[in-house]
Amino acid sequence: MKKLLALLVLAGTANYAAAEVVGNAKAAADNKIAQCVGCHGIAGYKSVFPEVYSVPMIGGQSAKYIESALNAYKKGDRTHPSMRGIAMSLSDQDIADLAAYYSQKK
Ligand code: HEC
Repeated sequence: MKKLLALLVLAGTANYAAAEVVGNAKAAADNKIAQCVGCHGIAGYKSVFPEVYSVPMIGGQSAKYIESALNAYKKGDRTHPSMRGIAMSLSDQDIADLAAYYSQKK
């Protein structure tokens, strides 16, 4: 029982730490947006897999919005297959960096 409690406390701390991640737009620009521009960089672009789908513009949206959208894909609350595949490969730091980058973009 004590052990379980310690684990719960630890898990709580980890959650808290994740919420504290600070986004670094420059880190995203240097090596993280490469995997996004193919779809999100082109105005009016439609992805053709798995079906024809309009790609929303994400530049200029609030960092909080972008972050929660990416976390929703990661957790499966939002289910678009291409975004899910990408979001699941992102760490909390990646998500924070990308959110910082795109929120500063016009
Ligand atoms: C294969 C094409 C593709 C790639 C690559 C891609 N996205 Fe997306 N993204 C989409 C599509 C299509 C949607 C809309 C899906 C939906 O409606 O749920 C979307 C939605 C989003 C949304 C939610 C936008 C909104 O208005 O709700 C965010 C945020 C996002 N993508 C961020 C990213 C980031 C950051 C990357 C790079 C790590 C990335 N995407 C890479 C196709 C892509």
